[in-house]
Amino acid sequence: MEASLGQTGLPRHIAIIMDGNGRWAKSRGLTRIAGHRAGAESVRETVRACGELGIGVLTLYAFSVENWRRPEAEVNALMLLLRQYLRGEVSELKKNNVRLNAIGRIGGLPKTVRAELARACAATAGNTGLLLNLAINYGGRTELVDAFRQLAAPLRDGRIRPEDIDEETIGQHLYTAGLPDPDLLIRTSGEMRLSNFLLWQGAYTEIYVTDTLWPDFRRPDLVKAIKEFQKRERRFGGVKGQ
Ligand code: IPE
Ligand code: IPE
Ligand code: MG
Repeated sequence: MEASLGQTGLPRHIAIIMDGNGRWAKSRGLTRIAGHRAGAESVRETVRACGELGIGVLTLYAFSVENWRRPEAEVNALMLLLRQYLRGEVSELKKNNVRLNAIGRIGGLPKTVRAELARACAATAGNTGLLLNLAINYGGRTELVDAFRQLAAPLRDGRIRPEDIDEETIGQHLYTAGLPDPDLLIRTSGEMRLSNFLLWQGAYTEIYVTDTLWPDFRRPDLVKAIKEFQKRERRFGGVKGQ
């Protein structure tokens, strides 16, 4: 299956809404938290596969700004899992030349998570392979609010003029500044919505939804999504074959 996955037409940036941990657990009579724990293995396999396939950037939606609405025990378990993942995965990330980065309101995370995150990012900062972007305490609207706030001071001081603001200026003030927009967005577990993920960056992203639940997502599922992407005709508002 993978033999035909050519190096041309590979997405430069893949973003994934890792959904369905709760449903996976429920169908097995397990707690939602057990579903999240199982999902960590899918993260491991997906990161490894993206690195091996030569994908440039992988952005994983791990925790949204809206996810704080969940029961406290589930939120705490997710924060603990994040710390465990970061601590346990550093050596594997180093081995695979993966550079770790986080996007979102990182300052709003518990101190223990921030510390682990800072350590893991620093330990992998010199790596030159896949960039693994973890979206944690992330919201697309929050990201735009933060960008506007950043722009307010230089506008007020006259360091930039309103007419100087263009799409590039906005992009430079997003958490993803300097990264290519996602080419392919994968959402697991069948839901047909964005859930506040990469709203600006996703303007022309190809969307792929699979019924597979995140804890069941494996390398062949990723390859299938990429193959589907390679069949898409991207027009960016133009016409075919331009
Ligand atoms: C995704 O799985 C994980 C997070 C949002 C952190 P869910 O927990 O949303 O799983 P479902 O949607 O309830 O099945
Ligand atoms: C989106 O999934 C957030 C993450 C995957 C981290 P949700 O499960 O929170 O989204 P909704 O509530 O179904 O839209
Ligand atoms: Mg969900």
